[in-house]
Amino acid sequence: MEWRYDLRVATPRDAEAVSELLRASYPRLMRSAYDEEVLAPALELMTQAKPSLLGSGTYYLAELANGLLVGCGGWTPERPVTKSVEPGLGHVRHFAVHPDWTRRGIGRALLEACARTARAAGVTAFECYSSLNAEKFYRALGFVRIREMDIELKPPVVLPAVLMRRNLHEE
Ligand SMILES: CC(C)(COP(=O)(O)OP(=O)(O)OC[C@H]1O[C@@H](n2cnc3c(N)ncnc32)[C@H](O)[C@@H]1OP(=O)(O)O)[C@@H](O)C(=O)NCCC(=O)NCCS
Repeated sequence: MEWRYDLRVATPRDAEAVSELLRASYPRLMRSAYDEEVLAPALELMTQAKPSLLGSGTYYLAELANGLLVGCGGWTPERPVTKSVEPGLGHVRHFAVHPDWTRRGIGRALLEACARTARAAGVTAFECYSSLNAEKFYRALGFVRIREMDIELKPPVVLPAVLMRRNLHEE
């Protein structure tokens, strides 16, 4: 099967396709690390594409030649949830790879695209609220674990996660 993909910047017109990708990816790939009663309410909130990310100019899609989206992910200067901004700090946002297309370097390519544009914008470090299942992926890409945390999705829904950090300035 032809599986070469291109990376491109997302636009608000991609909302439905990104939501479809999130719905394909998160339930299947996160199940390995979470109990169903924790995951189910979180997934309802996490599998909707975020208009603010799609319009940010720093949210990227991996797309096959036939138009199928197989990966998404980006970064923002704003921290998730609180929206606070700290100079030099970027935040990795809403990464997902289609479960039939994992371990082919798509997540890595998306993350490196983020690192390139973040560095060009003066960002010297990334933080990430990693899902428990994604910690090894972020470690492989140079992130270190800071601490365990809960992502406050929408009271009372929280998702246990890991705060991770990667320096960008030395590369
Ligand atoms: C995490 C995720 C984005 C990784 O995407 P991917 O395209 O499979 O990642 P890559 O192929 O680029 O992997 C790069 C490296 O990360 C590490 N890695 C990735 N997935 C891993 C896993 N499940 N277990 C252990 N290491 C893993 C490996 O070192 C890998 O390199 P290798 O395949 O040469 O050994 C994908 O699994 C996913 O969408 N998960 C569900 C959604 C999610 O949790 N997103 C993160 C939200 S914070």
